[in-house]
Amino acid sequence: MAEVIQLNEEILQFKGKDFLQLSDYTPEEILYMLDVAKELKALQKQGKPHPYLAGKVLGMIFEKSSTRTRVSFEVGMLQLGGHAIFLSSKDIQLGRGETISDTAKVLSRYVDAIMIRTFSHASVEELAFNATIPVINGLTDLQHPTQVLADLLTIQEHKGKLAGLKLCYVGDGNNNMAHSLLEGAVKVGMDISIASPSGYLPDGTITEKAIKAGTETGSTVMITNDPVKAIQDADVVVTDVWASMGQEAEAGERLKAFEAYQVNEALCKHAKEDYIFLHCLPAHRGEEVTAEIIDGPHSVVFDEAENRLHAQKAILKLLLN
Ligand code: CP
Ligand code: NVA
Repeated sequence: MAEVIQLNEEILQFKGKDFLQLSDYTPEEILYMLDVAKELKALQKQGKPHPYLAGKVLGMIFEKSSTRTRVSFEVGMLQLGGHAIFLSSKDIQLGRGETISDTAKVLSRYVDAIMIRTFSHASVEELAFNATIPVINGLTDLQHPTQVLADLLTIQEHKGKLAGLKLCYVGDGNNNMAHSLLEGAVKVGMDISIASPSGYLPDGTITEKAIKAGTETGSTVMITNDPVKAIQDADVVVTDVWASMGQEAEAGERLKAFEAYQVNEALCKHAKEDYIFLHCLPAHRGEEVTAEIIDGPHSVVFDEAENRLHAQKAILKLLLN
């Protein structure tokens, strides 16, 4: 079993914190979360009970669809001895106009933490501001931090390290995955290159902050329109859908804009020979990635999906225990 690094408890205060974006955490805290995730994964694989959250309840608000996030959080709470309640925004009063702040205050009286998947990142911040319990971001239009924590765990498991690797993301640079990968990579000392068409480049503020954070960890950030340049000698190749949830009406226009940004054999020839391929899923084979790549020998997408469970259990344990 992976040893959990003993670090100064004063520096690592997780209890009661929110998990809204990776930039809120220090490199040490992120590495520690990954160690806890590995420890919890080992316990689960050995069939050893680990009810650290016995009697605790997670409320899960979903304003968008989900397979992985919903199931992994629900199973994670169960494995930790607690319980999760699925709250579709269609069914709760939030969907009929009850305010976010009232929802936050009411749920804080019943449950021990809230996970929310929604559109606007500001809504999650408002929820967190008004809640007296930890709030976890289960995806907004801007960020998908629980996914990227699972991605870091997957990369660490397959490559044996994080610092010094090069991660290349090809596709929509202005979406939640690109932003959280930017924040996550620079925290752990990975170089990151993002190739996107003009008009779909990452958010300027997030990029600037990532460049600055990278100067402290030795990470470099490259943003380019050229996928071949971006993928050169990459250890990790990542993509995501070209039209995210909520962008369905733009799907046709995006299909054209991203045509030259498909992750396929020809492009991946420029990556390192032993590169790994990640995709948060759901994927569209034949659009952002070919079946050859996502179903091929370099792909670790199902390990990545499994690691949602272990990474999120670490987040839950640390924020609630
Ligand atoms: N990757 C991810 O968040 O998947 P779901 O949309 O199925 O939760
Ligand atoms: N960028 C995608 C991620 C899905 C998990 C979306 O927001 O739809």
